[in-house]
Amino acid sequence: MIIKTATFVCSNTKVSALPPPKLPEYAFIGRSNVGKSSLINKLVNQHGLAKTSQRPGKTQLINHFLINEKWYIVDLPGYGYAKVSKTSREKWEKFIRNYLTKRESLQCVFVLIDGRLEPQKIDLEFCCWLGEWGLPFSLIFTKADKQSLTKTNQNVSLFKKALAEWFEEAPTTFITSADSGLGKDEVLNFIDHVNQD
Ligand code: GTP
Ligand code: MG
Repeated sequence: MIIKTATFVCSNTKVSALPPPKLPEYAFIGRSNVGKSSLINKLVNQHGLAKTSQRPGKTQLINHFLINEKWYIVDLPGYGYAKVSKTSREKWEKFIRNYLTKRESLQCVFVLIDGRLEPQKIDLEFCCWLGEWGLPFSLIFTKADKQSLTKTNQNVSLFKKALAEWFEEAPTTFITSADSGLGKDEVLNFIDHVNQD
């Protein structure tokens, strides 16, 4: 898919304030600092469209970006940042659950996972939540440029093996780098296919 236009639309905390659910949308979620915003920028070829930071916790709101005037990418705040208070975490959970379960135009949730790490409980638990809520999701293993592909593939296999305890079908999986652009075409082609279904 060729990205002709990508524009910021709005940032929100309330589902009721989001753009009308008339266009297909794809949410990017995962641990703080896993590289959600960076990957979005790479996918749409616009450095700085989604705000990134070396410090975790940069993205705090539900951010909508309109792509080719036809569909939305949604950048979400990350989970699992150790320094966040219990109250903030509960607030995050409530508002993310609200968004994910009530957004009827949501086509797929991309769960981003740091490809350098062995399976993390928090990511597995999040996938289980999505399963319980009946939401379709795919896995994106990020930061592939930081280590060998062999190592990333090992972590992907371990994660899928762990997920197989809960899910009969393995989710679609991508390996990406926001630096080199690895996996970018695969993710965009996947979205293109879903949009055409
Ligand atoms: P929050 O908004 O805080 O939840 O974080 P995020 O998941 O949006 O992460 P963000 O895109 O802000 O990236 C966090 C850090 O990781 C930044 O310093 C990025 O430059 C770096 N980073 C993200 N993706 C990659 C990647 O694929 N390769 C490398 N080498 N660095 C990356
Ligand atoms: Mg972010």
